[in-house]
Amino acid sequence: MKEVGIGMLGCGRIADLQCLGYLEHPRAKIVAVCDVDGELARRRAEEWGAHRSYTDLDRMLADPEVDAVEILTPHHLHEDHARAALGAGKHVSLQKPPTRTLEELDRVARAAEEAGRVLRIFENFMHYPPHVRAKQLIEEGAIGEPISVRLKTAAGRIGDGWEIQPQTQAWRMDPETCGGGPTTFDHGYHCYHMGQYFVPAEIDRVHAFIHWTKLGEKQWIDGPALISWRYAGLLPRYGSWEVIASLGMRVRSKYYASDDRTEIHGTEGLIWVNRCAGKLLDEPSLVLYRDGETRAFHDIEADWGESFRLGGIDFVDALLEGRTPRQTVAEARKTLAFALAAVRSAAEGREVSLAEVVT
Ligand SMILES: NC(=O)c1ccc[n+]([C@@H]2O[C@H](COP(=O)([O-])OP(=O)(O)OC[C@H]3O[C@@H](n4cnc5c(N)ncnc54)[C@H](O)[C@@H]3O)[C@@H](O)[C@H]2O)c1
Repeated sequence: MKEVGIGMLGCGRIADLQCLGYLEHPRAKIVAVCDVDGELARRRAEEWGAHRSYTDLDRMLADPEVDAVEILTPHHLHEDHARAALGAGKHVSLQKPPTRTLEELDRVARAAEEAGRVLRIFENFMHYPPHVRAKQLIEEGAIGEPISVRLKTAAGRIGDGWEIQPQTQAWRMDPETCGGGPTTFDHGYHCYHMGQYFVPAEIDRVHAFIHWTKLGEKQWIDGPALISWRYAGLLPRYGSWEVIASLGMRVRSKYYASDDRTEIHGTEGLIWVNRCAGKLLDEPSLVLYRDGETRAFHDIEADWGESFRLGGIDFVDALLEGRTPRQTVAEARKTLAFALAAVRSAAEGREVSLAEVVT
């Protein structure tokens, strides 16, 4: 493959960032765009310099210039859209969470195998430069052995940050179309993955408190919440993620008005990642503590949009080089199982073993 022709499926909110790597890569081109909203698809095609816009996926899949499809549609459509694209011989980059259930994901994975095409699950936190640097420091032994991750998300004032269309909110707030809550399942997918990414041990047990706060007529948000988990091993180790619904607090952001921060504890030191989509305080994006010394990293690009740009470039490079892009399906399956265990734990009011969820 000399150049990768990308077909963008779904031109809503996140398409603004997901296009960045494809527009920049010298050997990629967005050649086609598809959205049920024809006017939106047409506008996006013009903006991205794509030759064609479609309102029907099958028509875009018949386009021979499309080598790979970037799927940016609501979660209840992911399985059908991914299987259709793979069945048409296209490679697929599928946004997190890949599907609502493990069964749906398994059917998509089978379709990729049968078609002999690449299936990449796109989880952007793993491409966010401060997270990448934290992982690199951990692998270099900067904090000894990583033994715990503590994540915190503070959702800020509604209406701050970038504009979110009511139809985007509607499918995300409906567990049937989203697969779970907008915070603890949808956004949570990133946080569960970070719990796995920084501590390379299997997670075997999860406990979750999830409170649903009413925002308006048919509008609910799943927060506050507190989710904790155990890493399997001879010595028990734990991680946690706290969600605060601070709905009167201003969180500066070009993106979602939500503050995410991460603390990774090692046997010999600590790393704090103080930023993600939100920019609450002007702190260094990464701080390392070890041996009585604290080092602040000011040289890391910390704009959240970077994670999308770099993730897009990685997908194209992987296709050109014939290597497997991450997240792999096996990794995504573990993250999805973790998310589903948290949702089940809160619903049933008990600790849940991952083995109960993984079928
Ligand atoms: N990585 C992240 O941080 C991040 C952030 C936001 C969204 N996302 C993911 O991106 C995906 C899209 O989210 P969004 O916020 O952009 O949603 P959105 O509702 O803004 O956009 C979805 C688009 O899909 C279109 N669509 C719906 N059905 C379609 C169909 N059958 N055929 C073609 N187009 C169709 C809609 O018209 C809409 O334009 C979801 O998987 C979501 O979880 C990821």
